Amino acid sequence: MRDFDTQHILHPYAPSVPNAQMQLVKSASGVYLELENGKKIIDGMSSWWSVIHGYNVPELNAAAMEQLGKMSHVMFGGLTHEPAIKLAQTLLSITDEKLEHIFFSDSGSVSVEVALKMAFQYWNSQGNKEKTKILAFSKGYHGDTLGAMSVCDPVTGMHSAFEGVLHKNIFAEAPMCMFGDVWNEKCIKDFKEKLEKNHKNIAAVILEPIVQGAGGMRIYSPQFLKRVRELCTEYDVLLILDEIATGFGRTGKLFAYEWADVSPDILCVGKALTGGYMSLAATLTSKKVMQGVEAGGNVLMHGPTFMANPLACAVANASLELLLNSPWQERIENIQTQLNAELKRCEELGIVKEVRVLGAIGVLELKEDVDLAWMTEEFIKHGVWLRPFNRLVYIMPPFVISKSELHTLTEAIYDVVKVYSKKVSA
Ligand SMILES: Cc1ncc(COP(=O)(O)O)c(C=O)c1O
Repeated sequence: MRDFDTQHILHPYAPSVPNAQMQLVKSASGVYLELENGKKIIDGMSSWWSVIHGYNVPELNAAAMEQLGKMSHVMFGGLTHEPAIKLAQTLLSITDEKLEHIFFSDSGSVSVEVALKMAFQYWNSQGNKEKTKILAFSKGYHGDTLGAMSVCDPVTGMHSAFEGVLHKNIFAEAPMCMFGDVWNEKCIKDFKEKLEKNHKNIAAVILEPIVQGAGGMRIYSPQFLKRVRELCTEYDVLLILDEIATGFGRTGKLFAYEWADVSPDILCVGKALTGGYMSLAATLTSKKVMQGVEAGGNVLMHGPTFMANPLACAVANASLELLLNSPWQERIENIQTQLNAELKRCEELGIVKEVRVLGAIGVLELKEDVDLAWMTEEFIKHGVWLRPFNRLVYIMPPFVISKSELHTLTEAIYDVVKVYSKKVSA
């Protein structure tokens, strides 16, 4: 099986003939992945932020089985169904009260495409043909489809591989005032200048609230987000917040924008929406934005085949019920306390530049890039699954992880990075 995989199946950001063999996962339960050889390892990644309740969750399994017995899919054009209506009711009730409309799509990247199209159509339908740019941020990450890529960090966001292809947008400096720093108005200077200069051509600003994820795992000051909101209002530019990674409790708030007490004009959610069971995302927006989009008799021009897939919506409903009825805040707080207590000591290791923690996110920024193949193998020997990238070794475990399981993860990080530190300096 693995030989076939190696020869034919492409994996994320990997060569067609991989330099390291993939791990074959047989099954997963709780926070454990079971590998081909029967070894069980603790997943510190929540399968890229999504598996917040762990794997093989009875409530989610039951919801999927029940929905399978009714219908797993039906087109959304001209038809609707209870799982989508119920999910829309819940999402609109737990997000900002200004958000009144919702568009379901298949993945985070597509929800970003929809958000960008909403913003462009908002201005275009009202006769403003000049607002064709997005103001995005360095170190931002919003997905891998062409529109989403055009608002990712131009250096780390693969723009060079698509020279001449991507829509040319405008980029402001990444937030420099980090979470917990004393606010300095200088931190917003670059953004403010770019907005002042280009606002006539800017349809929207797009930003990951509080945590810039895949572009660098940077945790920044809520005041930055507050100022971005104020300036967007002042210059009449829409604000798109991308909560695909941070949504559903990860940072200690249900949505990270709550740290800054701001309202987005457009909000993207995905990943943990189904508890990581299925691919589903959503773009939420206000009445004002929808009325703008529809000015002159226009409609939002998007409609994927698997829009609002009933099976995914039914599991998302069960996942949200499970989350909202759980002591999730207490769990995240406990994870945060433990990450602070057990990861901070990594700063004594020569190769570690900084340790950052917020909610159920722990990040070690190293002084140089990791050797991914070596580190992955070492982590597996220590019984954990972690997937570092560039200079970052990071964890965002399922919320249901126990104290001792989390301890195994943090011990593994300390031990492996310690050996790596010696290996690199040797
Ligand atoms: C902030 C953010 N936006 C968008 C995406 C893209 O989501 P997807 O991989 O589901 O297309 C990601 C995925 O990592 C993300 O972290």
